[in-house]
Amino acid sequence: MAYHEPVLLARSVELLSIRPDGFYADLTLGGGGHTRAILEQLGEKGCLFCLDRDEDAFANLPDDPRVTPIHANYAHLGRWLRYLEVAHLDGVLMDLGVSSHHFDEQARGFSYRLDAPLDMRMNQQGTSTAEEILATYSEEALAELFLRYGELRAAAKFARTIVSERATHPIATTSELVAVAQKAFGTAGSTPKLLGCIFQALRIEVNQELESLQRLLLQLPELVAPRGRVVVLAYHSLEDRLVKNFLRAGNFDGRLERDVYGNTQTPFRLLSKGTERAGDAEQEENSRSHSVRLRAAERTDFS
Ligand SMILES: C[S@@+](CC[C@H](N)C(=O)[O-])C[C@H]1O[C@@H](n2cnc3c(N)ncnc32)[C@H](O)[C@@H]1O
Repeated sequence: MAYHEPVLLARSVELLSIRPDGFYADLTLGGGGHTRAILEQLGEKGCLFCLDRDEDAFANLPDDPRVTPIHANYAHLGRWLRYLEVAHLDGVLMDLGVSSHHFDEQARGFSYRLDAPLDMRMNQQGTSTAEEILATYSEEALAELFLRYGELRAAAKFARTIVSERATHPIATTSELVAVAQKAFGTAGSTPKLLGCIFQALRIEVNQELESLQRLLLQLPELVAPRGRVVVLAYHSLEDRLVKNFLRAGNFDGRLERDVYGNTQTPFRLLSKGTERAGDAEQEENSRSHSVRLRAAERTDFS
């Protein structure tokens, strides 16, 4: 089984507008599809930093002297670049979220289709597992999590059921969580849509995905060189909204700040107005591409 089929591969790399001698970062190595396509366009003096918080991804790292692997959360990008004495990057690519490998590897506990311990950590040296969250969060915190990250309308009811079920037995496996969903919602609790929302919400919390993305975005104005490019592939509206507002306005509210003359001074210039989506042919071939939203921007040159 393939580790991961890259999405919008040619278009996302085209938008990086690669300079052969430039310094680039693929912040989400995964199966290495985007990494390999970037290397094809980099010259001998070019440099590519490949990050992933999941150690498994580094089995896909091309054996290439231009590549520097970094096993880390991309939220720490600035610290790593300072350590490596790199002042600026000419482009960064982020293909957000989990890879197909995470869903396919039963033991990782990301899929409601495969019975496994409720782990869901992308970084297996990471902190809380999904099981620990279900066992320790208050009913209010669980309701908030399923409402915010899963957009589950009946989040309060689900949180109540979790708390009453865990009083009698631990909710330690994916199947046990599916059984709790069935207890809360009857037959609706078995539908892929509802289980997808529940598992997505937990995964986002376990991996603190939105916090990492915010921390990274805030560093980009300093780390990306003038005219450098930022290309982002997002797969759900929560992360896409953060990316959209930040690339447009330089903050997470999307509020444009104006100087005394009424001019806006934003750190990035958008390369297209809205998002780009995968075409019909790609959607037909690669189900991962259905929900993708691509955004790209260039670092403003104030000089
Ligand atoms: C959608 S996959 C990337 C696929 C890749 N572009 C390819 O062509 O195969 C996302 C990858 O990003 C990693 N990831 C997610 N959040 C991360 C973070 N905060 N820091 C570093 N890596 C992260 C995941 O472990 C996963 O391997």
